[in-house]
Amino acid sequence: MFRIEKVKDYSVLSKKAAMLIAAEITQREHPVLGLATGSTPIGAYQVLRELYQEGRLDFSAVRTVNLDEYRGLAPEDSHSYRYFMNQELFQHVNIPMENTAVPNGLLEDANKACLEYEALIRKLGGIHLQILGLGHDGHIGFNEPSDSFPRETHCVQLAEETIEANQRFFSSKEEVPKEAYTMGIGTIMKAKKILLMVSGKDKADILQKVLEGPVTPSVPASILQFHPHVTVLADEAALSKC
Ligand code: GLP
Repeated sequence: MFRIEKVKDYSVLSKKAAMLIAAEITQREHPVLGLATGSTPIGAYQVLRELYQEGRLDFSAVRTVNLDEYRGLAPEDSHSYRYFMNQELFQHVNIPMENTAVPNGLLEDANKACLEYEALIRKLGGIHLQILGLGHDGHIGFNEPSDSFPRETHCVQLAEETIEANQRFFSSKEEVPKEAYTMGIGTIMKAKKILLMVSGKDKADILQKVLEGPVTPSVPASILQFHPHVTVLADEAALSKC
């Protein structure tokens, strides 16, 4: 079930998202956050950093698990999602680094890497709040359109559209890794609460399908219609087709 919150623009979206995340952190003794990369959550991470710097938020008991990581990239690689999280959030707040988890892109044995990541999430007792962005093809994490919903963390071949969308972070399309590790749809759906953040006119068509279309693995995020507690925080441009 969706609770749709329409905001004016990206700046308000970032502030509201940060407030929802901050509330989760302050209300729980040992909060477990599922985090996302991509450009959408950057503004919210910036606000969280400011709240910490102003002494209004404490990350010392926070545990985080990230959605996904490119296969083959080292944590030190500036294109890796581990590097992104360190840069955008972790190194600016008082979260102990050992409390943060991103799938290990360097593990050769893909099966082992995925099983270990699922085991870690289970050990943490599951995710209290999962942050999600939305891909132009409806992907969440790196769960690409397919003919079924993958359940657990797995290794995926990235869709051509995703490689093209993400090439802006690399110097050429050829440099974008072709594979990634991602939490499964089942992993994401087990989170107690979900916060889906969507901004911009270029996401309006896909957001309309996610919110109002049939639930189908060809639009992976449409499965969120079956989750009991999803907040969709989207700006006017992203909601312009709904
Ligand atoms: C990537 C990430 C997703 C993210 C999506 C949208 O493919 N794996 O987790 O949600 O891009 O990114 P953006 O927020 O930059 O549009």
